Amino acid sequence: METKPNVWINNKIIPWEDAHVPILSHGLSRGSAIFEVFCTYEDPIGTSAFRMNRHLNRLAQTARLLGMELKFPIQKIAEATAELASINNSGKGLVKVMAYWGEEAIINLVLNSKLDVAIFTIPASEELSMEQGDPISVCFSKWRKLHPETVPVQAKACANYLNGYLVRKDANDRGFDLGLALGTDGFVAEGSIESLFIVKDGILKTPPLGRILESITRDSIMHLAKDDGIEVEEVTLKKEDLYAADEIFTSHSGIKVSPVKQFEDKVLIAPGPVSARISHLMDNVLAFRDERYLDWFQKLY
Ligand SMILES: Cc1ncc(COP(=O)(O)O)c(C=O)c1O
Repeated sequence: METKPNVWINNKIIPWEDAHVPILSHGLSRGSAIFEVFCTYEDPIGTSAFRMNRHLNRLAQTARLLGMELKFPIQKIAEATAELASINNSGKGLVKVMAYWGEEAIINLVLNSKLDVAIFTIPASEELSMEQGDPISVCFSKWRKLHPETVPVQAKACANYLNGYLVRKDANDRGFDLGLALGTDGFVAEGSIESLFIVKDGILKTPPLGRILESITRDSIMHLAKDDGIEVEEVTLKKEDLYAADEIFTSHSGIKVSPVKQFEDKVLIAPGPVSARISHLMDNVLAFRDERYLDWFQKLY
């Protein structure tokens, strides 16, 4: 980014360069920060956010799951996002909302104060293309997904991403783009920051909730597929199911559908017909061409 956008922090708008936390803040030194990421798209007269309300509700749910309290109600964070997006003239890009204990916590592990809130707008760029994904290579990671009895995996907590980091690094070290983690039960869970879908005999399958993040893109894809007459199953997937899959793709907010061209040593058609169809449906939604889903957008400015 050449000129860095402004940042909203605790009801103030400040330059990006001034958005700091102390090294010994609880959020950094204990890894307790939480966050949300969602996308914004240029609509015919300005900019709208994709499923912002769902994302901000998930932020509130993350705080609840971890016994934390945000300094601002969700409605205020939504209004602040709109204000910041307008000031930054943000257009197509990402919004990242961070909530964290910015105060130093040298001794105390459990704090009672409310979480600071910071909002960033990050414009789409070459690095952050947000276009439907190029075909990728994927492998199983040697690392398992965090067990839900150790931390709430449905919480979008920064600390959970150390697991995601290890999964991705392991895959990258082996020459693959992404890694998939099995749960400690041996069933397939998800990627570092991605949900997983496979297609077998025309049926779209994805692991059930409980051991994975409640992804909003996953939910959107299941809606689009069902409304298009594609059969969808939320089922536990075994390792073998991936070897036997006709198509595999991953999804997350930034890139909604990334078709898998290579899974371990198996080569797949990417995108296969169902993945291509879903990608096409999603493109229509994101270009505001599908009236059925216009209420998935919230107008920012
Ligand atoms: C572990 C994990 N799974 C899935 C996803 C996809 O979630 P969403 O579609 O809400 O971006 C993410 C996104 O960051 C993630 O971190």
